[in-house]
Amino acid sequence: MSNQYIPQTVEILGILEESRDVKTLRLDVRNLRHEPGQFMELSVFGYGEIPVSISSSPTLEDYIDLSVKNVGSVTSVVHEAEPGDTVGVRGPYGRGFPVREVGGRDLLFIGGGIGLAPLRSFIDYIRDERDGFGDVSILYGARTADDMVFRQEFDDWRSMFDLHLIADVESEGWYGRVGFVNELLADVSPDIKNTYAVVCGPSIMMKSVVKGLKDMQFPDEQIILSFERRMKCGIGKCGHCNIGDRYVCVDGPVFSYDKVRGYREIWG
Ligand SMILES: Cc1cc2nc3c(=O)[nH]c(=O)nc-3n(C[C@H](O)[C@H](O)[C@H](O)COP(=O)(O)OP(=O)(O)OC[C@H]3O[C@@H](n4cnc5c(N)ncnc54)[C@H](O)[C@@H]3O)c2cc1C
Ligand code: FES
Repeated sequence: MSNQYIPQTVEILGILEESRDVKTLRLDVRNLRHEPGQFMELSVFGYGEIPVSISSSPTLEDYIDLSVKNVGSVTSVVHEAEPGDTVGVRGPYGRGFPVREVGGRDLLFIGGGIGLAPLRSFIDYIRDERDGFGDVSILYGARTADDMVFRQEFDDWRSMFDLHLIADVESEGWYGRVGFVNELLADVSPDIKNTYAVVCGPSIMMKSVVKGLKDMQFPDEQIILSFERRMKCGIGKCGHCNIGDRYVCVDGPVFSYDKVRGYREIWG
């Protein structure tokens, strides 16, 4: 019987510098057949293992992308890796976005910082399967313009979707909006009955965005959230990742708001 804790060793095909502290690892993983919103456990041998969202679309069969922000002991070692090095992966894990259920509907993506990673998998999937979905708007905010990730995709997204960007603070060369991403909700007028909002970012951002969506009269079931929690096993065995009576690793990381609105540890 195969051991589900043992990672598969894979080669890093390429590395893209997204921002000063985010790098995308392109990994030699073929035909993974993941859903947008699912995650992998990424290990650096001798250092540890971390959950990371798959940031590439499932329509790409020759590789997967994992986009990693340098925040601590394992992620800093990931940032030292070079093309040709090997890392360990296991997965895909978790429940991703309800891609089939939202087919044909309009989508309003709202991302903050590295929270755009799982959304990018879904957005690029829609780009490749354009006829299956309605109108798409993307609202994205980061601390500064230089902290925005997937900037190489923005022209492509602008040509097909409605893209709005905002930076928390001003910086040299940024002539766009300054403020928090929830403020961009005032720039869109979705047909609420036909629209699902899909949100991922830091918890303070998720709280203010959910409040904004509720003010716009979005039904709880149409607010789809992706959460990050500390994890160990990733497969529902260790109990490290619970929100209330749910395990984020197997019941999530994607939940509709009606399923999690009662949990004080998220919403305070
Ligand atoms: C389902 C899921 C998907 C994720 N997807 C991504 C992704 O696409 N890209 C990405 O860069 N990160 C992602 N994360 C967060 C990532 O797992 C953590 O940043 C990573 O585990 C930190 O490891 P470290 O050893 O470098 O940090 P540590 O040295 O352990 O900690 C450094 C700091 O990071 C915080 N931290 C540690 N683990 C987590 C965690 N799981 N969530 C939030 N904060 C944490 C700590 O509280 C501390 O402040 C995801 C997490 C989950 C649960
Ligand atoms: S990470 Fe072990 S139960 Fe979720």
